[in-house]
Amino acid sequence: MKKKLIAGNWKMNGGVAANAALLEQLSAGMPANPCWVAVCAPAVYLQQVATITHGGAIAVGAQDVSAHDAGAYTGEMSAGMLRDLGIRYAIVGHSERRQYHGETDAVVALKAQKALSCGVTPIVCVGETLEEREAGKTEEVVKRQLAAVIHTNGHCISEIVVAYEPVWAIGTGKTATPEQAQEVHAVLRAQLAAATPHADRVHILYGGSMNAANAQQLLGQKDIDGGLVGGASLKAADFLTIIAAASAA
Ligand code: PGA
Repeated sequence: MKKKLIAGNWKMNGGVAANAALLEQLSAGMPANPCWVAVCAPAVYLQQVATITHGGAIAVGAQDVSAHDAGAYTGEMSAGMLRDLGIRYAIVGHSERRQYHGETDAVVALKAQKALSCGVTPIVCVGETLEEREAGKTEEVVKRQLAAVIHTNGHCISEIVVAYEPVWAIGTGKTATPEQAQEVHAVLRAQLAAATPHADRVHILYGGSMNAANAQQLLGQKDIDGGLVGGASLKAADFLTIIAAASAA
């Protein structure tokens, strides 16, 4: 069985001193044979986090990447720049970016493509809103979101990480039940399997109020290969508990 992946999404949180303290606590508490671990830091701290974690068990991720290679795109950060700093992952299509920055499925697919072309693994987020779930559209929505990425990235698709993050569960304390999450993960796995013979290799993470208390049960599901963890990744003890659960699963 493949090692699980736990990725922390710090969102717009942190500071020079706080990041250093958190990373020190994480390194000190890492289990002997850890799962894959990453922290996705705000752009301005990527270099700091990469310097501190260099050579250790914690990989670094960005929270976004540009759909362009270079040029007049003020405020943006290219996949090549991430590679330059040794950044391993980039979250793309997080629901907060889809919602507040108008990112479409097509833009998200292009961002994933740019990341892959520079050897940065995109963590592609998909997920339905509460309204969509209640209308019975969960499967339709996540499949549409993933289809765009599959269409644009062809046979490279086995190189991506997928994160299923029901929007209604993000930062709300409402977690999908392990059964609800597994049901959607199985749909996503089948969709990947139709596109690549290597669908089993793809990490499909669950995200949305994953915490120290519920991680073990979620990670026990057949198609849940790890977690994308927001709030709980900012507290060393909680994040370490999730890492321990994933390392033992
Ligand atoms: P949360 O966030 O764990 O705070 O719900 C997860 C995410 O948005 O990636």
